[in-house]
Amino acid sequence: MSNASPRCLASSRPVHRTAAARLPAVAGLCALVALTAVVARPAAAQPVPAPVAADQAFRLGDLPPVAANPITPAKAALGHALFFDPRLSGNGTVSCASCHNPSLGWSDGLKTGIGINGTVLSRATPTIVNVAYNTQFMWDGRSRSLEDQALGPMKAAEEMKTDFTSMMRMLSSIDGYRDLFEKAFPGEPIGEATVAKALAAFQRTVVSKDSRFDRWLDGDRTALTPQEWRGFQVFKDPAKGNCAVCHSGPNFTDNGYHNIGVAQAHGKEDPGRFAVRALPSMKGAFKTPTLRDVALTAPYFRDGSAASLMEVVEHYNRGGDDKSNLSRDVRPLNLGRQEMEDLVAFMHTLTGRQPIVALPQLPQSPRAPTASVARPSNPVSARN
Ligand code: HEC
Ligand code: HEC
Repeated sequence: MSNASPRCLASSRPVHRTAAARLPAVAGLCALVALTAVVARPAAAQPVPAPVAADQAFRLGDLPPVAANPITPAKAALGHALFFDPRLSGNGTVSCASCHNPSLGWSDGLKTGIGINGTVLSRATPTIVNVAYNTQFMWDGRSRSLEDQALGPMKAAEEMKTDFTSMMRMLSSIDGYRDLFEKAFPGEPIGEATVAKALAAFQRTVVSKDSRFDRWLDGDRTALTPQEWRGFQVFKDPAKGNCAVCHSGPNFTDNGYHNIGVAQAHGKEDPGRFAVRALPSMKGAFKTPTLRDVALTAPYFRDGSAASLMEVVEHYNRGGDDKSNLSRDVRPLNLGRQEMEDLVAFMHTLTGRQPIVALPQLPQSPRAPTASVARPSNPVSARN
C-alpha cells in the first residue's frame, strides 16, 4: 500500500483533502488498522491481487454458436441418450461414456483407452469438457468438427466396432428413439448425419465453468489463495513457467500442435500431427490439451505417462525428455520446489462446478420387455 492516495485502504474511509497535514498520522493509523485486519482474517480469505487486464483473455465467454448445428434442448436430449447407450457398439458393451466417463472428468482414469473386447488403445482418452470452445479435435487434429468426429469411434474396430446397418435398425425400431429423433430433427431421417449432430450438440453442453479461477477473474479476490495466485504468475511468466505461451485463451489451449518432448515408446513412436500434416516440425507434435478440470483427469499426456500434475511440472522443469524436434518453447525452467508446488496448486483452481449429468433412461424396444412388464407372479414358472 505504497500509493499516496489520501484514502485509507484498510478502513476505506475517505480522508478529507484539507487534512493533508495530518496525513502521516492517518497513514500510521491506517497501517495499524490494516495490520490488525490482516491478522484478524482467517488465512483462506486473504484477498490476493486483482487480475490485470491481460488475464481476461482466459475468461470463458458464451458458447460459440454453430450455425450448421445449433444446440436445441431436443438435440441435446437425444445426444445424451446416444452418448450413454452401449447398444450403439458392435457387441452392445461400449458407449461413448465408457471412455468419456462423467465421474472421471469425462475421461477414463487410464493411461490409454480400452475399447471393445478389451483392446488397449495407443492414446489417452481426452476429456470432452469444453470441447465446444475448441477448433481442433483429437490429439493429432484429424477431425475438423465434433460432427465430423462423432462417427469415428463407432467406425473404429478397436473402439466400438459399430455395425451401422444394425444400429440404424435398432434406433428405428424403438419408439422412444423415434420420438427423440422426430423432436430433435423434425422430418429428417434417422441416419449417420442426425446421430452425429445429436452427439455433437450434447457434447457442446458439457461445460466446465465457474471455477475458483473464473470467480477470481470476475473480481472475487478471495477465490484464490496466495499460493494459487503465485502459481498463476509462474504459469504466465515467460521467464518462469512459460506455460501460457501454449495453454492460452479461455480453454487454456492455443488449438495448436507442439512437441513437448514426451519420451517416445521405443519401436512404437507416435508421429502425432505429422500423420495429418507432413511438416518436419509436426513430428511428435500433439494438440495442446485444455487445462480446465485437469485435476480430475490423471494420468496425463497423450500416452498417460505422467501420473500426477507434479510429474507434468517436473517434465517441463527438466525441459522435456525426448529432445528430437522439441518445441523452442520447452527448455529447462529452473523452477524451485515452491514454484512447482504453486503451479500445481494453481491448476487445481481450474476445476469448474460440476454440472449434474443424470444417467439417461435409455429408450427400450417394445420387443424386449423389461422385467417389470408381464412378470409372472410365480418365479418358478418364469423359467418355463
Ligand atoms: C474406447 C474408448 C473410447 C470410446 C468408446 C470413445 N472415445 Fe472418444 N476418444 C477416445 C480417445 C483415445 C481419443 C483420442 C484419440 C486420438 O486423438 O487419436 C478420443 C477423442 C475424442 C474426442 C476429441 C476430444 C478432443 O479434445 O480432441 C471427442 C470429441 C470424442 N472422443 C467423443 C467421443 C464420442 C462422441 C464417442 C461415442 C460415439 C466416443 N468418443 C467414444 C476414446 C474413446
Ligand atoms: C510448447 C507448448 C507448451 C508449453 C510451453 C506447455 N505446454 Fe503443457 N502441453 C502442451 C502439449 C502439446 C501437451 C500434450 C503433449 C503430449 O501429450 O504429447 C501438453 C500437456 C500438458 C498437460 C497434460 C494435460 C492432459 O490432459 O494430459 C498439462 C497438465 C500441461 N501440459 C501443463 C503445462 C504447464 C504447467 C506448463 C508450464 C510449466 C506447460 N504445460 C507448458 C503444450 C505446451
